[in-house]
Amino acid sequence: MSTTRTQKAACYLLKSLSSPLLRTTLSSRSQQIRRVTTARHDANTLARAGWNAALGPQSERTLQQPKRQAHPNVGNKRFLDFDLAGGVYLVTGGARGLGLAMAEALVEAGGKVYCLDRLDAPDDEFYEAQKRTLPEFGGELNYAQVDVRNTENLDDVISGIADKHQRMDGLIAAAGVQQVTPAVEYGIKDAMDMMDVNYTGVFMSATATARQIIKYQCRGGICLIASMSGVVANKGLPSPVYNSSKAAIIQLAKNLAMEWGCVQDSGTGGIRVNCLSPGHIVTPMVLENFKEVPGLQETWERENMLGRLATPDEFKSAGLFLLSNASSFMTGNNLVIDGEHTAW
Ligand SMILES: NC(=O)c1ccc[n+]([C@@H]2O[C@H](COP(=O)([O-])OP(=O)(O)OC[C@H]3O[C@@H](n4cnc5c(N)ncnc54)[C@H](O)[C@@H]3O)[C@@H](O)[C@H]2O)c1
Repeated sequence: MSTTRTQKAACYLLKSLSSPLLRTTLSSRSQQIRRVTTARHDANTLARAGWNAALGPQSERTLQQPKRQAHPNVGNKRFLDFDLAGGVYLVTGGARGLGLAMAEALVEAGGKVYCLDRLDAPDDEFYEAQKRTLPEFGGELNYAQVDVRNTENLDDVISGIADKHQRMDGLIAAAGVQQVTPAVEYGIKDAMDMMDVNYTGVFMSATATARQIIKYQCRGGICLIASMSGVVANKGLPSPVYNSSKAAIIQLAKNLAMEWGCVQDSGTGGIRVNCLSPGHIVTPMVLENFKEVPGLQETWERENMLGRLATPDEFKSAGLFLLSNASSFMTGNNLVIDGEHTAW
């Protein structure tokens, strides 16, 4: 629209607003605001200052465009919304497999990343990833041995990392275990052990991280690794507690998102929490399942539309998306990436 036409539209709207007829028709200021917000977008932008003056401070707040927490240099460089430079991130279960692949993505984007895992030392692939990481990325790939069931230690390690860098920006909670056992044979201890890692461990990792994000008022992103098994039963694999633990994670993400999303007057909040639900990925966990159940690999390959299983690196971009500014209006969501296993 040309400037003259836009100005005319703005004037028309301003006149309409101040006309006595319209004033008597609209019973309250809030009704005026609702009416005004249906106006054409271009005219709305130009007329905003005028309306604000006409309607007073209350409506000024209603009509202002919300400010997005965009990267300050967006537009000067490609994909700056994905830039994590200067940020500090945690990845539980990051010694290998999916967690490690996602950690590497955060480092490539410039993040200082700490993989927290119960293993004494990470797999060889961790050191290979460390070597691949170029210094010019500005990121770091670090390792600390932490069992997510040891809440006190988990909290100490996470607060130590935050205090060292004077910030905390996000978490990928990927630590998880699987147990293949038919339901009637599942003992209480096994069920509790599974939930301790896959549910309580994830919950405690998220709260320990959130406390630091809140302390340092960084805003931030949290990605809980659920699974498509949180919404379907896996054909050929009796794992009732694992699947239930993943369903619980999908529900947990919504609750944390609700509690931590809004930015408060104190400057805290602004933490987005989402789930990532992968389909079948070839990782050490799944290779173990293939040993336990003959023919499982072939069954699973047939069960999605791509006719193959995923590799961990196919989830790198999803992790980066969920932790970066690129997903700034997404929270409480469950991003399912499963080769469309669950679509038919
Ligand atoms: N592989 C798949 O097909 C698949 C699919 C959907 C979801 N997932 C989920 O992805 C996540 C990663 O799984 P993966 O396939 O890479 O398995 P993996 O076994 O290769 O990796 C899991 C990591 O978690 C760590 N871990 C386990 N218990 C821990 C604890 N108590 N404290 C700290 N670390 C602990 C392990 O040491 C391991 O390094 C898990 O949450 C899993 O449920 C995997």
